[in-house]
Amino acid sequence: MEGKQASGTQSRTERADFQATADPALNEAADRTADVKLLSYEELYALWERQQWQTQEIDFSQDREDWDGFPEEERFQRMYGLSSFFIGEQKVAEELGPIMRAAPSEDQRIFLCTQIADEARHVRFFERFYREVGVLDADGLSQMLEQTSEHLNPEFGRLFDEMLGGRTERLSAEPGDTEALVEAVTLYHMVIEGMLALTGQHFIMDFNEREGTLPGFVEGFQNVARDEHRHVAFGSVFLREKAGEDERYKRAIERTLAEAVPAAEGVLSPPWAPEDEDYELFGFSISETRDFAARCLGRRLKVIGLG
Ligand SMILES: [Fe+2]
Ligand SMILES: [Fe+2]
Repeated sequence: MEGKQASGTQSRTERADFQATADPALNEAADRTADVKLLSYEELYALWERQQWQTQEIDFSQDREDWDGFPEEERFQRMYGLSSFFIGEQKVAEELGPIMRAAPSEDQRIFLCTQIADEARHVRFFERFYREVGVLDADGLSQMLEQTSEHLNPEFGRLFDEMLGGRTERLSAEPGDTEALVEAVTLYHMVIEGMLALTGQHFIMDFNEREGTLPGFVEGFQNVARDEHRHVAFGSVFLREKAGEDERYKRAIERTLAEAVPAAEGVLSPPWAPEDEDYELFGFSISETRDFAARCLGRRLKVIGLG
């Protein structure tokens, strides 16, 4: 059985089940060398089989008490912080179909099918948390998503709808366009999951663990984060393979990052944060979160062969 107990950020990323994903961001050696072992597509699939979990097993009763006790302002800020994750999970779940179909090998497609199942589970995890804790008072999942969408900033739409949506539309029409696939994986696995999701998750879990709040949420969110590391590990091995194959793909990765990173940094900043100030949210400043995201991206790029 792989480790399940939560005990702080440091030990979380060092846990055997997190390390098992071989995400380069969890490997210090990636600061110095590109010669870091990544899992193959088959190994990533086998790991997915071993890392199953159930949203319905999580007990949110303490979370409900905690939530009711938060002042209204804190409830709003926490809900805002979670909105982009909830909507993000739903959007990526829908965008993965065309990416999966466009992947050139059977092993890649099989892994991406497991990722589609994971993203669906992540949506249900948020839905259960929102419902059981009473974050929003909505009838069904679509109504809940509609209410949650009101809290997103414009950079979120640029990144998910314009940039990622544009590439997946292209892939739906032209599944053989490998350059568009490289761009989509750069956006999806490197920027949206690698830079945004994992950074936000890291700081939100850290904050709750320090405060001793929302234990059910933290338990589930750790499972989500472990899944994301496995997804990013897939992106890393795929992009390393493509970057080694053709200069054209290397340039496509660089071009996509230059376009997307500024939008991703905008998503990390809440709309009420003053522009000329290093705003603090949940005990961490915006510049700390950006530095963390940049370090993780740097390690992954080095391993891909771009650092
Ligand atoms: Fe996810
Ligand atoms: Fe993911």
